[in-house]
Amino acid sequence: MTLILGIETSCDETAASVVEDGRALRSSVVASQIDIHRRFGGVFPEVASRQHMLSITPVIRQALADAGIEWAALSAVAVTYGPGLAGSLLVGVNAAKGLAFSLGLPLVGIHHVEAHIYANWLGQDPEPEFPLVCLIVSGGHSELVWMAGHGQFRRLGGTLDDAAGEAFDKVGRLLGLPYPGGPSIQQAAIDGNPAAFKLPRAWLGDSYDFSFSGVKTAVLHAVRKYQPDPDKAHAVSLQAPAVVRDLPVANLAASFQAAVVDVLVAKACRAAGQLGARTLLLAGGVAANDSLRSAIMRQSPVPVRVPALEHCTDNAAMVASAGHFRLQAGTTAGWDLDVVPSQALAPAGQ
Ligand code: KG4
Ligand code: ZN
Repeated sequence: MTLILGIETSCDETAASVVEDGRALRSSVVASQIDIHRRFGGVFPEVASRQHMLSITPVIRQALADAGIEWAALSAVAVTYGPGLAGSLLVGVNAAKGLAFSLGLPLVGIHHVEAHIYANWLGQDPEPEFPLVCLIVSGGHSELVWMAGHGQFRRLGGTLDDAAGEAFDKVGRLLGLPYPGGPSIQQAAIDGNPAAFKLPRAWLGDSYDFSFSGVKTAVLHAVRKYQPDPDKAHAVSLQAPAVVRDLPVANLAASFQAAVVDVLVAKACRAAGQLGARTLLLAGGVAANDSLRSAIMRQSPVPVRVPALEHCTDNAAMVASAGHFRLQAGTTAGWDLDVVPSQALAPAGQ
């Protein structure tokens, strides 16, 4: 039996968790900074790392207390080393190193995208079957990955510009909705008509790549049409959204959401079918989206697994789960483990 302490600080959530055997959740603590960053309309990196420094020790202590265990019961410490904000990652990696060193435990470094994928092993019975295709969509990533077995990843495609969640956040801002844009757009879209605006879908031929900058710009142009005098210097832009009166927010939100979901679902389902996957997984913050979850379940040619809602957005349980499988495979890190702000999960290929 393993009891892994997972630590996650790659962006604006300070999180720690204890997971048993990579599957059973013993505790999961997430200190969100969303309220702090909301006034900036996005994550402010320096503020995020300072906040991690304040939260990291109490969050880790709480994770152990909630799990009802002492330090001595732990088998290893797993931590996200990247990609993410350098200053934020440093806080988690140094906390993990200090703990592992002082407790005499193995240290396991986890790639953030790998962690998101392993959210699908938490409390899931039966487990996802290999080989599988996983669509990871978050604020920082949009990737389609082939997984032949534990730790065996091949990148099928990914975004050429914005990540899906980033596009949700930017369009949310444009529509005057609160940060983060993903949940706000989902909420606003409930009262909207997804066919109200004909927004572009970037199919990019047969590739498994994505592009969301076109649909984002199309929303910008649609918003400008509602501005009384668009020729004025204060024209709405992605950098400086203005409050535009009489904007059909619900219809724009629903049309944007449908455009993004259509492409994500079509490509993920095509990859699963063409490549002979036995399971299709969804992961990452955008995997919390209702419309995406239901469309992929309806259209997939193979069984679909989605993480519990609380394991879609950043958390440390997914890091602890990935850490268990890495530990089983003997892939532990040295004391020279460093943060890597930007790095693909796996080599490309089909
Ligand atoms: O995985 P995550 O917490 O952080 C990153 O690794 O980036 O993902 C956060 C992203 C944000 O862009 C947020 O707007 C998006 O996930 N998100 C959603 C929903 N909930 C969170 N996007 C669409 N619909 C949602 N319900
Ligand atoms: Zn994430």
